[in-house]
Amino acid sequence: MTTARRIDGKVMAAELSAKITRETAALLREHALVPGLAVVIVGEDPASQVYVRNKKRTAEACGFHSVQHTLATNSTQETVLALIDELNNDDSIHGILVQLPLPAHLDEQQVTQAVVPGKDVDGFHFINIGKLTSGNTSDAFVPCTPAGCMLMIEAELGANLSGYNAVVIGRSNIVGKPMASLLLQANATVTVTHSRTADLPGVVRTADIVVAAVGRANIVSGDWIKPGAVVIDVGINRIDVSVDGETRSRLTGDIDYDSVCKVAAAATPVPGGVGPMTIVMLMANTLRAARLASGLGAD
Ligand SMILES: NC(=O)c1ccc[n+]([C@@H]2O[C@H](COP(=O)([O-])OP(=O)(O)OC[C@H]3O[C@@H](n4cnc5c(N)ncnc54)[C@H](OP(=O)(O)O)[C@@H]3O)[C@@H](O)[C@H]2O)c1
Repeated sequence: MTTARRIDGKVMAAELSAKITRETAALLREHALVPGLAVVIVGEDPASQVYVRNKKRTAEACGFHSVQHTLATNSTQETVLALIDELNNDDSIHGILVQLPLPAHLDEQQVTQAVVPGKDVDGFHFINIGKLTSGNTSDAFVPCTPAGCMLMIEAELGANLSGYNAVVIGRSNIVGKPMASLLLQANATVTVTHSRTADLPGVVRTADIVVAAVGRANIVSGDWIKPGAVVIDVGINRIDVSVDGETRSRLTGDIDYDSVCKVAAAATPVPGGVGPMTIVMLMANTLRAARLASGLGAD
């Protein structure tokens, strides 16, 4: 029986964040340039507020100019678009992030597409999606979560994934599809699965690399895993557990970590895996946006 290596997202994110902080200081010193990140939140969803606070705190820790715009839940589409327009034209802002989900009366697609591609640090604009899927990533912005997953996979297996089978569980525009594009670009042989896939466990058992982005607690168990696979858990699920007779709420991923770790070579925990990497990739994209906007090259 093996015990998988724990891929520590907190440690990786802290190292990357320190590198971004150093590069930001150099940018200020050598080019008098400060990367600027604007985060837009509409409404008072508590989970979104926590995410936005974390992003602002991390941006400030990296030395960025960081602004937060909080709009009322009942804001109109025109109000949100006017703010995006203002930020698109603000030279001190290099990255714009609109915290999703937006309240149901707003047209999310129109809002995300209103961010100019050069400031689209979430990588949701059709131009950036097109660049990623066509393999033209030199000046594209890649969505933060799959970009972070990719760094974790590279740390285990190297940048060239030739000969490896990768199975992505989930086909969302935010995680599953861009993840598949990145794996393909790194030469993996990629299968994308979803809720209509027949024999999901059988498909996952063929994988040297598994990325689970489903949103179902512990759906992937150890008997789905090929011995020696690298398993990345994107899922964030809140479940109730009983502790000393009391019901407590706890975060868990899409993989059943304990049983998966008996078979896999390496796996990410939840919390402390993909989550911290996602935030730091937003900072990496913002630094990149500032460099590109100033004609300095991507890195
Ligand atoms: N750690 C992070 O930073 C981070 C970032 C983003 C998301 N997340 C988490 O990652 C998870 C996925 O997020 P998302 O935005 O990609 O979710 P999503 O848009 O809801 O997509 C979920 C995907 O899972 C598939 N699926 C659902 N049930 C399935 C089943 N029983 N078997 C196989 N596939 C199934 C769906 O298939 P269909 O397309 O057929 O419906 C869909 O493609 C969530 O828990 C989310 O909170 C974490």
